[in-house]
Formats: sequence, structure tokens, C-alpha cells
Amino acid sequence: MIVTTYDQLTVEQKRTLDEAEKVMQNAYSPYSKFCVGAAILTTEGQIVTGANVENAAYGSSICAERAAILRANAMGYRMWKSLSVIATGSDFETKEVTAPCGSCRQMLYEFSQVSGVDLQILMSTTRKDRIIISSINELLPFAFGPKDLGMAKERQDSSSRRSART
Ligand code: THU
Repeated sequence: MIVTTYDQLTVEQKRTLDEAEKVMQNAYSPYSKFCVGAAILTTEGQIVTGANVENAAYGSSICAERAAILRANAMGYRMWKSLSVIATGSDFETKEVTAPCGSCRQMLYEFSQVSGVDLQILMSTTRKDRIIISSINELLPFAFGPKDLGMAKERQDSSSRRSART
């Protein structure tokens, strides 16, 4: 885990976090009034974003991270390098970084296995004045994954090859 500042980020990391910040404005969160933006950086340098979408039936809400994950998959991108996340309240700014929830960590772990890398997870405060760079293995140690179902690496590889760009 690295605690850092925006200035210290690479151009790619800055670009990905900036896209997460932009999409955060599109959060549909009338209940919590907490807006979250996430952006996935693919191995090809593509950035795929997502924002949280809430529902009057609260449990049907979806986090920004999973919104980005589902979107990247639907676009045919399953090989990723990192995910950035940033959030704000409607009447307060976060003073500590926002970290992915447990369900999002589980889904990120799945795609870290598909991607064959320990996905980098970059988490920011609203003002981007405090940034923590971690990884999915650090955020979800001793994870349950494809290996526990006896899945061989080749099966996962063929599932990522099957994906077609839309
Ligand atoms: N939320 C996210 O989108 N990502 C997180 O990492 C934490 C929580 C959303 C879910 C809900 O819409 C709102 O934030 C409050 O929990």
C-alpha cells in the first residue's frame, strides 16, 4: 500500500482518476446522496467508467466499481491493469479515501484472475489531496476464486479470448 499525492501519479494514473472524477457527477444516488465514480484502465490503455446507481428498493443498488466492471465486460474488455475510485457527498467532501466494498472486491478479484495480474486499486479523496494505491490481493486476502472451483488457467484464458469488442 502506498500513500501518495496526485502530483506523484503517472500520466495514466492521473488520466484514469480524472475520468472517475468526471463520471462521479453522473451517479444516480438520490437516497444516500453519495456520488461515486470508478474507472478501469485496460491493458490496451482504454478507460471504462462507471457510477453508482441506486434504487427505491435499496438492495437493488449497484456500486460504481461494479457498474464499471459490467460495462468493461460488455464492451469486450477483460484484461485490466487498474481501477480508480473517488467519491463525494452532496454536502461534504471525503477526507479519507473511498475503498471498494466487499462485493466489488470479490468481482475485482475474479477479473484479476482473468487478467493474470494483481490489479492495482487507486483510491482517492474528493479533492484528490490524499491517494492510496493498493492492490486487490491486499484488499481481499485469502480470496475465494476460480481456482477453488478447480478452474484451470486455460479455461479462464479462453473465456477472455471469447470476448469481442462492441
Ligand atoms: N458505493 C459505491 O458506489 N462504491 C463504494 O466503494 C462504496 C459505496 C455506493 C453505493 C451507494 O449507492 C452509496 O455509495 C452509499 O453506500
